[in-house]
Amino acid sequence: MANLEVRVGDLCLRNPVMPASGCFAIEHSEAVDFGKLGALVVKSVSPKCRAGNPTPRVAETPSGMLNSIGIPSKGLDYYRSKVLPAYTEFGTPVVVSISADTVDEFAQAVSTMSLPEVAVIEANISCPNLEADGMAFAMDVDTTYKVVSAIRRSTHHPFWVKLTPNASHVGVIAKAAEEAGADAIVMGNTVLGMSIDVHTRKPTLGNVMGGLSGPAIKPIAVRMVHQCYRSVRIPVIGCGGISTSEDVVEFMLAGASAVQVGTASFIDPGIMQKIIDGLHDLCRQLDVEDIHTLTGQVKLDRQLSDRWLRFAQQSG
Ligand SMILES: Cc1cc2nc3c(=O)[nH]c(=O)nc-3n(C[C@H](O)[C@H](O)[C@H](O)COP(=O)(O)O)c2cc1C
Repeated sequence: MANLEVRVGDLCLRNPVMPASGCFAIEHSEAVDFGKLGALVVKSVSPKCRAGNPTPRVAETPSGMLNSIGIPSKGLDYYRSKVLPAYTEFGTPVVVSISADTVDEFAQAVSTMSLPEVAVIEANISCPNLEADGMAFAMDVDTTYKVVSAIRRSTHHPFWVKLTPNASHVGVIAKAAEEAGADAIVMGNTVLGMSIDVHTRKPTLGNVMGGLSGPAIKPIAVRMVHQCYRSVRIPVIGCGGISTSEDVVEFMLAGASAVQVGTASFIDPGIMQKIIDGLHDLCRQLDVEDIHTLTGQVKLDRQLSDRWLRFAQQSG
């Protein structure tokens, strides 16, 4: 059996596979043994109570889905007393994902949720920044630096920063997050998209635009994980379209230390268990004894890759 253990900073995970925030709920325990996952990442919570976006909130697309759920929330007290306890009994590190509207709100929410039963905070800075006309924090280097520094000052807990693939210069954004004190980068959230029903001529989502996820975005996510890996020294967690063990290895070769599985769990709630089981077989086939040794091992013509990486870091 291959050793599937990986490290994300100081945190040791029994394997690199964890759910992506918002694509996983306590009901998944009927299909997956939570004690066998690398970590448990919970749906983002925001400090303000919110109803979420207008319906319909999801729409199917070729090789993916569009969603515009918003972050429906009953606030941090409700989350702490009613949502979190269900996840803390499996001996698996719990990752609490936080979204907020402003820098101060983010810092306060992270401070409040830095609880002993929480292993890691994931700051979902792909959400709208109400101090910048609703543009996501992670679209811009300065706002990324500002919000991540404020979060760093507010907690001693490890925290990961989840970026948006909608920024073209993700390597620079990841570097700003690292310099501001992030412990790891999660690359990344959904790609902004839109679809229209030709019969009604209306957008299929109530909120008009939404986030595209699933296999359709996988090559974008692999490219961005590699750009982040080449730009920072902190670990990168890959996310976007993962549905097989091969996908996990591909993301690790690109530079991921661990991965998150989102949309695939809607199609098959037991998919993460199958991916983990498949990793043992795949590592045997690939002659890999320790899965962590795969991180960043894509074979590249260094000169060529340095050239396009410089280009990618300048664009945007
Ligand atoms: C229905 C749905 C809800 C989501 N909710 C959240 C969320 O609350 N917080 C967050 O950071 N990302 C959220 N995401 C984004 C996912 O965590 C993930 O980053 C994205 O879907 C790409 O991964 P995938 O292609 O494997 O789904 C959501 C995605 C979907 C499809």
